Amino acid sequence: MINIDAKNHVTGKSIYLDDIQEIKGTLFALPFDLPNAHANIQVINLAEAREMPGIHAILTHEDIPGQNQIGNIFPDEPLFAEKEVHYCGQPAGLILGENEFFCRQARKKISFVYDPLPVITCPREAQSKNMLISPSRTLTLGNTNDAWKSCEHIIEGTVDVNGQEHIYLETQGAYSYPKEDGSIYVASSTQAPTAVQRAISVVLDLPMHKIEVDVVRLGGGFGGKEDQATSWAVMTALAAKHTGKPVKLTLHRMDDMRMTGKRHPYSSDFKIGLTNDLKILAYEVTHYQNAGASADLSPAILERTLFHSTNAYFIPNVVITAHSCKTNLPPNTAFRGFGGPQGQFVIESAIVKAAETIGVSPDEIQKRNLVKDGDEFPYGQVMKNTEAMNSWNAAEKLFDLQEVKQRIKLFNENHNRFKKGFAVQPICFGISFTNTMMNNARALVHIYRDGSVVVSTGAVEMGQGVNTKLLQVASDEFGISPARVRIESANTLRIANTSPTAASSGADLNGKALKIACTNLKERLTKVAASILESEEVLFANDRISNAAGKKEITWEELVMNAFQKRVSLSEHSHYATPLINFDKTKEKGHPFAYHVYGTAVLEVTLDCLKGTYHFESVKIMHDFGKSMNISVDHGQVEGGLVQGIGWLTLEEVIYDEKGKLLSNALSNYKIPDIYSVPDEIVIEHLDSPGSDFAINKSKAVGEPPLMYGLGAYFAIRMAVKAFNPESELAFDAPYTPEKVLMDLYRNRTL
Ligand code: MTE
Ligand code: HPA
Ligand code: MOS
Repeated sequence: MINIDAKNHVTGKSIYLDDIQEIKGTLFALPFDLPNAHANIQVINLAEAREMPGIHAILTHEDIPGQNQIGNIFPDEPLFAEKEVHYCGQPAGLILGENEFFCRQARKKISFVYDPLPVITCPREAQSKNMLISPSRTLTLGNTNDAWKSCEHIIEGTVDVNGQEHIYLETQGAYSYPKEDGSIYVASSTQAPTAVQRAISVVLDLPMHKIEVDVVRLGGGFGGKEDQATSWAVMTALAAKHTGKPVKLTLHRMDDMRMTGKRHPYSSDFKIGLTNDLKILAYEVTHYQNAGASADLSPAILERTLFHSTNAYFIPNVVITAHSCKTNLPPNTAFRGFGGPQGQFVIESAIVKAAETIGVSPDEIQKRNLVKDGDEFPYGQVMKNTEAMNSWNAAEKLFDLQEVKQRIKLFNENHNRFKKGFAVQPICFGISFTNTMMNNARALVHIYRDGSVVVSTGAVEMGQGVNTKLLQVASDEFGISPARVRIESANTLRIANTSPTAASSGADLNGKALKIACTNLKERLTKVAASILESEEVLFANDRISNAAGKKEITWEELVMNAFQKRVSLSEHSHYATPLINFDKTKEKGHPFAYHVYGTAVLEVTLDCLKGTYHFESVKIMHDFGKSMNISVDHGQVEGGLVQGIGWLTLEEVIYDEKGKLLSNALSNYKIPDIYSVPDEIVIEHLDSPGSDFAINKSKAVGEPPLMYGLGAYFAIRMAVKAFNPESELAFDAPYTPEKVLMDLYRNRTL
């Protein structure tokens, strides 16, 4: 089944926030900020801006009826700065005007008097000054102190990995208008409708039932709208309340890039110990997470870094420590992988450095140490399958790894200007919110008397195809054609207390809830059908319901109408909570994940050693989809995730100056992958895997895991650089931009 949005997307008919028909009298909102990253505000001069044409009002923290607070995990983030600003781009207030142009003109007239304060952008510096977002955490397994003695090779190093800008095609935005009795309607481009509703209730001092948040779809979120869509929605709600008018806000791309947080940069120190036969016995790692100026989701992201610090490997003795460091950058936030990829990049770097030191190929160490049935992860969960090994073995065989290695060796011996590199990249990603409490969802299903069906869940469609999968769940369960089912927007009046659509679990959680609702409805309908068809057993298929003998049948419409006439309820609201999962933070042990997703990629790159540019010829992936319920949607997720991962590790360079000002502040100076940087060949194979009972219809979550195949891009390029300049001292410092590659190619090298 093709993605139900495909046709409307390509014909431009899909409705995004900016396409909502504006109500007469709608005001446009534009936030303003100080030019400094850290300062004490003395005065904000608004008088001149207020007099500008078309300006209706300018709001600051003084206009907030409730609390000036939008923090999610901790209440540490004001909606508008009061005395102190903590990062460049922190909103200090909101301009309301008749159109965007008037607001922009007015913004130029706002000036500030302030005392600059010292700016810290480096996480290690912040940690040394004890500027932490939350208490540091450590996971341990076995005993590294004892284990070092048995290691023949001990290698230490430092790894840096930079942030990543989300570049969702649709920038942040919201549209609010007042309803009766002080209640309010909010259309928001958010992954977390309930978080928006809650924050508005705090800031406007309203009960949650007065706030309706509606989300039709997002033009991409990638985690960037899990927490950071909230402030803009709250601003429009505040403005609507204040003016009594509809208020719309859509950020200009450069405002969006300047004012929002990104993937967290990390700096990490590792120590890895191996035996002569390449068994990793011990691993110690300390992560410094650059959290930015407030908590946002950083503590949760740090948790996933801890959990994924050994990627797909079993290491018997481990100490993993992570610090969430408070700096004067915009609060960094969720981004596909949610801290997992940063942890995984360090262990992969450690393995590559060990391989280079010992003089073996990294894949020999990787393969030797893959997690196996019965192995324990450092967070306490015990592995119950052999998927990691299976995906490696299948990839090695199908993609003929030996041939790849031979061919690349031969090529490098015979070429000078061009060098090739490869990497094998296994992944292992835990599915569930690491915070057990969040793993729940609800669904509401109405069957109308004409037989058409409408489904509401808390799932937010952001391009990942969750609505298509939900539609399949309902139509499969009732045995009716997809055209009879409609998936409605995520709306807080229909579905309450939702978790964000995140952690790759949108389809699993909402799909499971939906399945429960459909099963309950079907049970009632079965009774009605049984009496009409005079049979205990009835079959729902092809829009018809037949008895066991297949002799008698009625149409779906007839059954529904019959049930309606018999006063049988045609509506159902259901609840699902993932069973079994748990985690005890006091012990740092538990079983946080419903299941894991595995896979192995083989990446091949060619490097132009004159220019420092590179091109990926092929990426071949053996991926664990379980029993994919929609192959085209799932392949889209693998391709998109892979390319986004390659972009993060190669081209995309977030640059702040030492004063905390973003220099890579537009698409002209922040390079994202385009069609030319996509690998020539992407092969996606399905691992023969049983799936998981916790995955919807055994179709495993696919949203985030494929991003981590992109990690291999870094190491493939590194191998090619080494082939040209074996003497070069190479750091582990991602992204590996052509600029950095060129420097490495010619460091200490006489021509
Ligand atoms: N795919 C598209 N096209 N757009 C997105 O914004 N977000 C990713 C992933 N794939 C995203 C995407 C992220 S960060 C997550 S957590 C999952 O989709 C969320 O959706 P799911 O839980 O339904 O997989
Ligand atoms: N993943 C994604 N988003 C989240 C998580 C998680 O584990 N926890 C809280 N928000
Ligand atoms: Mo995804 S980073 O969990 O929104």
